[in-house]
Amino acid sequence: MSIILTEHMVPVIMTVSGSPRKDGCSAEMLRRFTHELDAAFVSYDAYGCRFAPCTDCRACRQFEGCAMDDMDGFFADFEACDGIVIASPIYNMSFPAPLKAIIDRMQRYYSARFFLGKRPPISKRRPVALLLSAGSEDEDGEFAARQLEKIFTVTNCELVSRIVRNDTDHLDSMEDIASEISQEAAHFANLLDSIINSSHDF
Ligand SMILES: Cc1cc2nc3c(=O)[nH]c(=O)nc-3n(C[C@H](O)[C@H](O)[C@H](O)COP(=O)(O)O)c2cc1C
Repeated sequence: MSIILTEHMVPVIMTVSGSPRKDGCSAEMLRRFTHELDAAFVSYDAYGCRFAPCTDCRACRQFEGCAMDDMDGFFADFEACDGIVIASPIYNMSFPAPLKAIIDRMQRYYSARFFLGKRPPISKRRPVALLLSAGSEDEDGEFAARQLEKIFTVTNCELVSRIVRNDTDHLDSMEDIASEISQEAAHFANLLDSIINSSHDF
């Protein structure tokens, strides 16, 4: 279930939304962040996709891929894209279940690396931005970011931007973090350019 929003000779960014709230805080962060990028977007909504959770069937240790085919399009887009933006609320220190299911299904790349010896399973380097919203005032998104480390390591992704919108039960407006979102989007765009135009490291 992918939607190509624009089509130019520009980088392709995969966006993944973790919230069930289409007009919620993380959706607004994603809207503002992507507005700053000159890119084409392939967008996934975790709640809408209803991807099955990983069952640890271990088929991905025998062949490169997944025994279930519901995420074939997602995996193709993930492998082809130039960068990734994940926008999600924090639920009980983690990601909402549908987004966590997507993260767990990335186990196929971990198996490709460590059971099938693919080094790396995806050769293209990609920057990732993580946009989080949280009800609490002191959630820093560290635990959520750490959950992504393992799959990012084996898929040539690097978390280069993390923004947390705190205290969302009391703060509706994004104005106080608008400049942070703009700055991080510019940082992300610069890294994207340098990765695409050269072989320089992050
Ligand atoms: C099931 C559930 C669990 C939550 N757990 C946390 C939590 O552990 N820490 C936190 O800071 N906020 C927590 N929240 C609050 C949400 O993170 C917060 O309302 C967020 O801004 C919602 O984002 P959205 O508007 O993009 O959907 C939780 C909310 C729900 C519904």
